[in-house]
Amino acid sequence: MSKPAYIVLARKYRPQDFEELLGQPAVAVTLKNAIASKKIAHAYLFTGPRGVGKTTMARILAKALNCVKGPAPAPCGECEPCSEVASSSCLDVLEMDAASHTGVDNVRQVIIDTVGLAPARDRYKVFIIDEAHMLSSAAFNALLKTLEEPPPHVVFILATTESTKIPSTIASRCQRFKFRPVPVELLREHLESLAKKEKIEIELEALELLARTAEGSLRDAVSLLDQCRSFSEKKVTAEAVREMFGFVPQEMLLGAAKALLGKDAKGLAQWLQRVYEEGVEPSQFLKDMRAALEALYLSKLGLAAAVPAAWTQAAATVSAESLGFLLRRLNRALEELRWGDSPRLSLELSLFSCLEAAWDLSDWAQRLERLEGRLSSGAACAPGEEPELAGEEPAKASAPAAGGDAWTQVLAAARKEKPALAGVLDKARVDVSAGGPWKLIIGKPFELEQAKRGQGWIEAKLATIRGLPTRVAVELGQIGHTPAAAPAAEAAAPEPEGGEGSAWKDVTESAPRASPEALKKAQQILGGKVRIVKKPQ
Ligand SMILES: Nc1ncnc2c1ncn2[C@@H]1O[C@H](COP(=O)(O)OP(=O)(O)O)[C@@H](O)[C@H]1O
Ligand SMILES: [Mg+2]
Ligand SMILES: [Zn+2]
Repeated sequence: MSKPAYIVLARKYRPQDFEELLGQPAVAVTLKNAIASKKIAHAYLFTGPRGVGKTTMARILAKALNCVKGPAPAPCGECEPCSEVASSSCLDVLEMDAASHTGVDNVRQVIIDTVGLAPARDRYKVFIIDEAHMLSSAAFNALLKTLEEPPPHVVFILATTESTKIPSTIASRCQRFKFRPVPVELLREHLESLAKKEKIEIELEALELLARTAEGSLRDAVSLLDQCRSFSEKKVTAEAVREMFGFVPQEMLLGAAKALLGKDAKGLAQWLQRVYEEGVEPSQFLKDMRAALEALYLSKLGLAAAVPAAWTQAAATVSAESLGFLLRRLNRALEELRWGDSPRLSLELSLFSCLEAAWDLSDWAQRLERLEGRLSSGAACAPGEEPELAGEEPAKASAPAAGGDAWTQVLAAARKEKPALAGVLDKARVDVSAGGPWKLIIGKPFELEQAKRGQGWIEAKLATIRGLPTRVAVELGQIGHTPAAAPAAEAAAPEPEGGEGSAWKDVTESAPRASPEALKKAQQILGGKVRIVKKPQ
């Protein structure tokens, strides 16, 4: 924020060659190959979000083209052209910012005046036009004329964050390269290595926060680190970063999340009170809550690194699906908050309505389905003898177990070893017929692939557990087929967009009507009471 006496990190660590530029492998490889094989275009168009290396890449390309040892995929970095490009002082590499005040009119003049001239010293005259979408139509016209009949020594590199605003007549004459947002892990690693080089003491979790805040922009990530450096003499903690950037304190977030997941209205009210007292912005609170639950969600699916133990514990009994439901709710709450006139009211309404909504029905539905799988595979058990419902793995593994038991063990093993697959298997139905392969019936087409990929693993597990080779056939089919479970099956797989109403109201409305018998049975097996849950609103 304040003007530092040192060089800002983003400038100090600007990548100087193709290897140093992170996160854009496709672009780097294609450009290097083109240069190596001397296939040089007259115009390049670099598109992508801000701070991901477009301008930097344009300079690297200019060096590669003009290096005295070039055109070279690995410019030397030391010759005059190379070092002049690095310091933006090269006569033959003209950098123009179309967004700047002077840029708008100048670009046209510069193009008209210089494009016909031979390079002063170097191989090519390179025009780097940043924020090219801001060019005036007169400038675009001048550019178009040049591109229609380009002089042999001229190379244009246009960079823009808004590719749709580049006239198609121009774009079609350019070689286009799409720059990607940089993945959060890469951002974190980069920050970690910079911190090490700069001897900035900073907690790993703080780096993670910075990386996530940067939302794919390396420039933003690096300048956030810069701010931390000027902010703190001591070790930079995650808590300090939260405070500096207005993030919600971890304790508050975790406390409120626990109340939310545990459907504890009183607890939630108390935490919200603290949110107001400590002056936390409702939208920031929702955003941070969403980020925390998203991390949990991904880790449950086995798609992301583990989250802190306190969080795993808080969500121990909540399925990935239910977390997904809550995430959609929070998303919508944020939207409402943006348009509503009382952030505080929006926050309360959305969170308290999460307590009422039957988002955890999908957990129940899954249990029912698993149970149903066991029943249909011939492993019925008496009420109260349902080890799997308690989430415990049966310890018996000696004699070939009955089909249902074996399947329960496969599920338990999957949960430990292959969480993503477990998510699919939990919802699947197993059909055991004497002699033939075990049918593994999957309800959703998009889960079929995953189940098929896990087939070998499942067969191996079954063979070990049962003590005999067992073939498994994975197929698509109806999951629920008894009256009680059919609507529950729908609840287990809510449609991603806006469908959460229908995802659960079917159960509450139609299940009792459909078959009170089946409900009674479920109640017998599961224990507890059957209640009619009212749909909110
Ligand atoms: N892909 C990248 N790899 C390493 N550093 C990068 C990358 N992208 C951006 N940076 C950092 O951000 C600064 C600005 O990047 P820049 O190339 O101007 O981004 P863009 O033109 O896409 O907005 C660079 O000087 C560098 O420090
Ligand atoms: Mg730029
Ligand atoms: Zn060189």
